[in-house]
Amino acid sequence: MSEHFSVTATTGRTVRILVAESPARLGWAAAELLLQEWKAREGRAFRVGLPTGNTPRLFYSVLIGMGLEREIDFHDISTWNLDEYLDLPAWHPGSYRTYMEKHLFGFVNLPRENIHFLNGTTRDWKVTCNRYERLIRESGGIDLQVLGIGVNGHIAFNEPGTPGESRTRLVRLSERTVQENARLFPDPKEAPEFALTMGIQTILEAKKIVLLASGGGKANAVYESLCEPPDPRVPASFLQNHPGELIYILDRAAAAELPVPDE
Ligand code: GLP
Repeated sequence: MSEHFSVTATTGRTVRILVAESPARLGWAAAELLLQEWKAREGRAFRVGLPTGNTPRLFYSVLIGMGLEREIDFHDISTWNLDEYLDLPAWHPGSYRTYMEKHLFGFVNLPRENIHFLNGTTRDWKVTCNRYERLIRESGGIDLQVLGIGVNGHIAFNEPGTPGESRTRLVRLSERTVQENARLFPDPKEAPEFALTMGIQTILEAKKIVLLASGGGKANAVYESLCEPPDPRVPASFLQNHPGELIYILDRAAAAELPVPDE
């Protein structure tokens, strides 16, 4: 069971909200949305921007299932990950590349050359970031950008204080984010302080954006991202400026602070 409603954000734009009964349902809903978008691609390649973290794990499991059932074929899909830690080699257990191999790439027929990632071990981060921006543009742009959200309202690794015009670059992570993400490291002390990330403007250039959030810890960030005017204090609030379709898929706890329309 899921519930749909719309929220009018402070910029006047409408945001579709889907509230799923459980994190598993949230994963299903997100995968179903990706499947529908892929089916509507009309023979073109389908470019999808992908997040990491705990929230999208079930989304990826459902996609693997859909691949095995041959409901979706990944051969004409290209993936663009949002971010990567600085100085972690791709094979490191804490790298986002390893996360993606473990949760999706290792189990679907996605051609290796269609996988795009920021190289965290680059010797020149500016060249790497500018190249990523150029590749996204030259590929035709991202069709569907899937996002998570941090408890402090960050998207990708755009931390509070990030201007809305930001592009792909090197960032220093907030202490809170380093602590939050340390749990995903075999040794929490190894959690990096720096990362490469797509910028907010880069993210806003995707044709369609879907944000996933689960758990009460995200409820305030979700509320502020839509019901407070866009401001660097809450980077996700800039999503209100997205000209295309914006959809939030939430569980009940993450949706708890949103204004629910009267019956
Ligand atoms: C990291 C990622 C973000 C993600 C966030 C939330 O900081 N860079 O892209 O949205 O974690 O992750 P979780 O779903 O584990 O709360």
